[in-house]
Amino acid sequence: MSERPSADHEVTVRRAVQEDDAALLAIEKISWDASSGFPSYQDNLTDTFFARSGPEAHLVAEYDGEVVGYLRLQNKYPFPEGAGVLTINGLATAPTARRLGVGSALLDAATAEGRLRGARKISLHVHSTNAAARRLYERHGYIVEGTHPNEFLIEGDLIAALDMAKML
Ligand SMILES: CC(C)(COP(=O)(O)OP(=O)(O)OC[C@H]1O[C@@H](n2cnc3c(N)ncnc32)[C@H](O)[C@@H]1OP(=O)(O)O)[C@@H](O)C(=O)NCCC(=O)NCCS
Repeated sequence: MSERPSADHEVTVRRAVQEDDAALLAIEKISWDASSGFPSYQDNLTDTFFARSGPEAHLVAEYDGEVVGYLRLQNKYPFPEGAGVLTINGLATAPTARRLGVGSALLDAATAEGRLRGARKISLHVHSTNAAARRLYERHGYIVEGTHPNEFLIEGDLIAALDMAKML
């Protein structure tokens, strides 16, 4: 996969279903590295993608009918004062399907879903080292709300965590 989406190559986004488990687990196992995720999490992946949260928390992207990415969208807070703030707790595109607009399509779908739910804001955390994701979020209107220096020690390097958010 090296071409841009066109009339012949389409990215579509839909809600996840239980049957996506194996495809999403495969994506999860190969999509993250030390610049984007936590190696300890990768080491402890179970054999079920939906162990962490069920299909209802996920949007799934398909490219030419093949599952190539996901976005996990959840309420940030469990109490009513924080209702209306959603959080992206995971976003990944399979390495073979990157730079084809999959991440963008998932973020557009998350915005639409947030508006549908009457949310006012979508927030997320991103590693300071994750240039690809930071650029993607910026292009979708997310701004840095906070920086946490020296937040994580990953493979010998102290990195910052950034809070980013977009108002809906
Ligand atoms: C970040 C990630 C989700 C992007 O997914 P993607 O499907 O490749 O993104 P898109 O094709 O929609 O890219 C849209 C825009 O984002 C930016 N972008 C994406 N990847 C980039 C990269 N490697 N370098 C610079 N900018 C990048 C570009 O502006 C791009 O537009 P362009 O291709 O016209 O230049 C993907 O690289 C990934 O899964 N990374 C590992 C997991 C991860 O980091 N998740 C986010 C955790 S917070």
